[in-house]
Formats: sequence, C-alpha cells, structure tokens
Amino acid sequence: MTINVILAGATGWAGSELARAMAKTPDLKLVAAVARKQAGRVLGDVLGEPSLTGRVYASAAEALAIPCDVFVEYTKPDSAKANILAALEHGAHVVVGTSGLTESDFAEIDVVARKYGRGVLACGNFALTVVLLQKFAEAAARLIPQWEIIDYASDAKIDAPSGTVRELAFRLSKVRAPEHTVPLDKTIGPPDIRGATVSGSQVHSIRLPGHVIGAEIIFGMPDQKLTIRHDAGSSARPYVDGALLAIRKVSTLLGVHRGLDAVLDL
Ligand SMILES: NC(=O)c1ccc[n+]([C@@H]2O[C@H](COP(=O)([O-])OP(=O)(O)OC[C@H]3O[C@@H](n4cnc5c(N)ncnc54)[C@H](OP(=O)(O)O)[C@@H]3O)[C@@H](O)[C@H]2O)c1
Repeated sequence: MTINVILAGATGWAGSELARAMAKTPDLKLVAAVARKQAGRVLGDVLGEPSLTGRVYASAAEALAIPCDVFVEYTKPDSAKANILAALEHGAHVVVGTSGLTESDFAEIDVVARKYGRGVLACGNFALTVVLLQKFAEAAARLIPQWEIIDYASDAKIDAPSGTVRELAFRLSKVRAPEHTVPLDKTIGPPDIRGATVSGSQVHSIRLPGHVIGAEIIFGMPDQKLTIRHDAGSSARPYVDGALLAIRKVSTLLGVHRGLDAVLDL
C-alpha cells in the first residue's frame, strides 16, 4: 500500500534530504510540498530528482487541498503549530521533525489529534543514536537523582534548547524530578547562572560556530559521575531513516507521542 505524504519544509536542509530518500522509497509518495521561495515549481525540478512530481505550495493550507495520509512538518518553530493543526483538521496523521514546540503546544495538538482520531509522532531528533541516548538517560535517572543537561548547536540555530534536549528533559520528568543539593533560589550569583529549568531539568544551551548539534547529560553521585553524549555531523543523513519509519508507523498511533521509540521495539 502506498502512503501519500505532504512534506512541509521539503526544500530545507533536513526536508530536502528526506524528500530525496522518499524518491527512492516505493511505498511512500510525496504528493505535495510546502516552502515559500520555490512555491509553484515541481519539487523534482528544485531538487534535481525527476521522480518527485509533486508541486511546491507556499502554505500548508494550499498543499492540503491535495489528499494525503501523512503530513510531515519540517519547517520552522513559528509556522509548525499552525501547519500541524491544519493537517489534523484535514484528516492527516502528522510526523513532526521541527523543534521549538513547547509542552503546552503539544498538549493543545494532542486535544485536536484525538478529536479527529489521528496520530502525531513528534521526534526532536530522528537519529537512532539519539533514541539510545534518551533510553540510556532514562535508565540512569531511575538510579541517580542528580543531573544537568548541556545543549550544543551552531551559532545560527534560532531556538533553544534544541528539540532533542527539550524531549530529553520531558522524558526525564516522567522518571523523576532531579534533586539539587543547593536549591536553585539559594544560589549566590546572577539569577540565570544555573541555566534554565526545562521540564524540571537544568539546561545550559551553547550556541557557537564549530558546533553542529549535540546533547550531553551529566549524572552526578558522590565521588562519581556518568556522562552520556551525542554529537551529529553536518549532513542531514542521520535523520532520514527514523523519519521514514515515523511516516510508515504514525497511523498506528492516536494523539501525540514523543520520540521515535513510540514505534520502535527497544
Ligand atoms: N527531528 C529531527 O531529527 C531534525 C533534524 C534536523 C532538523 N530538525 C529541525 O527541523 C526544522 C527545519 O530545519 P532545517 O535545518 O531543515 O531548516 P531550513 O534548512 O531552514 O529549512 C526550512 C524549510 O521550511 C521552509 N519554511 C520555513 N518557514 C516556512 C513558512 N513559514 N512557511 C512555509 N515554509 C517554510 C523553508 O522554505 P522557505 O524558506 O522557502 O519557505 C525550507 O524548505 C528545525 O526546527 C530544525 O531544528 C529536526
């Protein structure tokens, strides 16, 4: 059975790599794309992939006039929520790769998804190594009550923390709340010096040239510590296989699910 897909952000760094992979994937058909600058063109002409015959539309609302089974959101944080809600209202299941959505955004999206009987699979990072980082961190948090997270990305990344780190902090909040030997409000120094609290975890975002994207979690116990770290290189290749899996599996879900392991047997 072929799954018809609309890909929002198909001309971007992550979306174009996914679109090229879909061109070689017989069970997935890219029926339309969303991106403003190339609107009106055929996606295959833009990406040099003749088998991608779907057209590019300037908005999700216009693209969704084409029937689809799954809508993939890979644009920017400021357009993501409206695109996702529009897709659900058109009866599509949704895969979210875009970072920057908040817990309250997801809560709102969950209500709409359940109203329309559709699944939303949101993965701050589709890379298998990140799925493992999240699983290992959850296991560690069950045994070690103190941790902090460092979020690394390039100076050009406009949102902070990354979707990966936001998701990691959210998942750890389901395991337990981290402990602090000195309560945060008793710290002597500038108020933000201990980082920002994201879903209960202290997060420190670093935005510098030379970084691509990475996440590090440090667990501390008396006289011992454990560091789990993930770093990705500069290509969008690590995110393709996970995104393809998410597209194939999202219709088995109802409401919002976070992280690729919702459809992986780990
Ligand atoms: N989940 C993961 O594994 C993963 C991996 C990589 C990146 N990401 C996240 O995915 C998102 C996209 O990253 P990227 O590096 O691919 O960005 P990018 O290269 O800037 O691409 C953004 C794409 O979205 C389109 N777009 C942006 N704003 C739009 C709007 N208002 N309406 C319609 N189209 C719009 C852009 O085309 P126009 O500018 O022509 O409109 C372009 O096609 C970011 O949030 C990033 O953090 C997630």
